Amino acid sequence: MILLDKYAVFGHPIKHSKSPRIHKIFAEQTSQALEYIAQEVPAEQFSTAVDCFFSNGGKGLNCTIPLKELAWSYADLKTERAQLSKAVNTLAIQNDGSILGDNTDGIGLVTDLMRNHGLTLAGSKILILGAGGASRGIIAPIFEQSVASIVIANRTVDKALNLAAEFQHKGHINGCGFNDLGSQQFDLIINATSTSLSGQIPPLPRHLLANKGVCYDLAYSNEPTAFVRWGEENQALKSLDGLGMLVEQAAEAFFIWRGIRPETAPVIQLLNAERNS
Ligand code: ATR
Repeated sequence: MILLDKYAVFGHPIKHSKSPRIHKIFAEQTSQALEYIAQEVPAEQFSTAVDCFFSNGGKGLNCTIPLKELAWSYADLKTERAQLSKAVNTLAIQNDGSILGDNTDGIGLVTDLMRNHGLTLAGSKILILGAGGASRGIIAPIFEQSVASIVIANRTVDKALNLAAEFQHKGHINGCGFNDLGSQQFDLIINATSTSLSGQIPPLPRHLLANKGVCYDLAYSNEPTAFVRWGEENQALKSLDGLGMLVEQAAEAFFIWRGIRPETAPVIQLLNAERNS
């Protein structure tokens, strides 16, 4: 009997997670003998559930909302990008039994933008909407692409200012409120607020997007999100949602666990075809 290596995603809610499907395809594609399940884990049961998972032979976990900060605290050691983002979406057991925490969300976004959509980030002016956990996770990986500057705009201005101050050492970054954006223009606007799926967007001035600018919503949905629609209405060159980022962050986690890079393009194509059908 072949014993399958065990992986899982913990979250609350988790029912609609696409991760088991994505990792099953990755495993088939790369001939890896593993299982990957989704498990409903409320925050108050997090550490018990993770202890139990790893003590029963589990190899690696993904953690999603609302567990990423708890996973950050749980990890025995963290990568630099996880350390900075104060959130962990990937846990991996090491040979000595310790648990490594990483955050693959930011690199997933950057890979989707650059490799899948052919965009150049170097030298571009970037606006990030929102100053919560999702924003924090993407700032350092974006700076690694030699962007010209990042502005963080948030409803609660202090949070934007504090987040910008935290990443000052990484590059040119400022925080402000939505009303302070004035007549600035950006090459890439990323929506990292939690508004989009409720059909809302933050109040944005007109002409915020530069000519041939791109919009990217970290959220994804079968229908275009409110922010994807805003991008289309504002003549974005591309107005994208986070489905590609989801698949890319999963591929990066798979690489951490298995040492093999799966091909993401066919998976993105499949998930896109399914939601358009
Ligand atoms: P996440 O981990 O998904 O980033 P979060 O840390 O709760 O979640 O952050 C949510 C982000 O969405 C915050 O930037 C929040 O703005 P505030 O810091 O002012 O709360 C933003 N957000 C949520 N609802 C919003 C709304 N209706 N309009 C504008 N921004 C909103």
